[in-house]
Amino acid sequence: MSTVPRFVKACLAQPVDRIPVWIMRQAGRYLPEYRKLRGEYPFLTLCKTPALATEVTLQPLERFRMDAAILFSDILLLLEAMGVDLAFDEKVGPRLGRGESGEERVRSLSVPDPVQEMGYVLDAIRQIKGSIPEGCALIGFSGAPFTLATYLIEGGSSKDFYATKSFMYKEPAAFHRLMETLADALEAFLKAQIAAGVDAIQLFDTWAMILSPADYRELVLPHMQRLVAGVKHEGVPTIHFSLGTSTLLDAMDQMGTDVLSLDWKIDLGEARERLGPQKAVQGNLDPFALFQEPARLEESVLEILEKGSRWPGYVFNLGHGVHPKTPVENMQRLVEVVHSFPVPQAT
Ligand code: CP3
Repeated sequence: MSTVPRFVKACLAQPVDRIPVWIMRQAGRYLPEYRKLRGEYPFLTLCKTPALATEVTLQPLERFRMDAAILFSDILLLLEAMGVDLAFDEKVGPRLGRGESGEERVRSLSVPDPVQEMGYVLDAIRQIKGSIPEGCALIGFSGAPFTLATYLIEGGSSKDFYATKSFMYKEPAAFHRLMETLADALEAFLKAQIAAGVDAIQLFDTWAMILSPADYRELVLPHMQRLVAGVKHEGVPTIHFSLGTSTLLDAMDQMGTDVLSLDWKIDLGEARERLGPQKAVQGNLDPFALFQEPARLEESVLEILEKGSRWPGYVFNLGHGVHPKTPVENMQRLVEVVHSFPVPQAT
């Protein structure tokens, strides 16, 4: 008989026997076994070959007793399935399109059938579910419409988001239509991931922080509410990830996800106070805290644990992905400290 993983219980704000932990980018460049495989295959080949994506997803679980694994993939692959060229350049990062303008890329988008176009992701999910340790949850994910819109319009990463913001302010109706199309594609993709077996969904809205609270409420929140409501119907918990959370916390609370993943710029105790006991939270250690010597690292982890665990509904994580130069033994230490922490309301 399979029991509900403690990670899923914590996402639903139910009591747990110990605090669940997983780490964003836990499968990645700080692990020598990832770097070895990455030396043999390009990043996109790892993502698009289900056996390799499965191997990478499970790599950190060989070392650490994490309570969840995140599917190894990338938020930009959906844009490729929507008709946009995608490449990863070692030096400049992702590149979208073949020199067309942002407006041209936006106009040429289509809503793909995930089974036809993202079958490699769904196959990877089924393979991972077949070999993941008992009690360890599998998290599926996607980008959120706004963050995907920035990559699409800019053609890659950006410093000032000039193209996105000028499009948004000059053509608000077209911007809303774009957000709607992206939300439609995301809803179908996330439902397909759930049907393939993921236990939770995380939506990455990395760049929401560039918006004022008023613009966030006007241009992003309604699309997020519709997307989250559509996915929620499927019965798995939803997590919303963003950076620079404190300015948008109240708006994000209205999105309808079960969990908000917070960065380190907000005090976790204060965030829990503001959000109340119904809303689960995830986070929020600064990834660079892992560069401290062990005794100080332990103190930092305990401080976060104490603030996060005052009510049920807490998942330990960093505020953003683990840095590639992080010492692996410090990750080991972090996981041990979380595991041995006595939960105030333990089941
Ligand atoms: O957490 C995980 O390891 C799961 C897989 C995952 C990746 N990217 C793998 C990846 C997830 C959930 C993401 C999300 C993602 N991708 C986000 C949102 C979260 C965040 O970090 O803010 C964004 C903005 C992207 C887009 C992206 N992908 C960029 C800008 C880059 C280049 C910069 C970088 O970190 O290298 C990527 C590449 C990428 N995605 C790598 C990995 C492991 C590095 C590829 C490599 O091994 O060279």
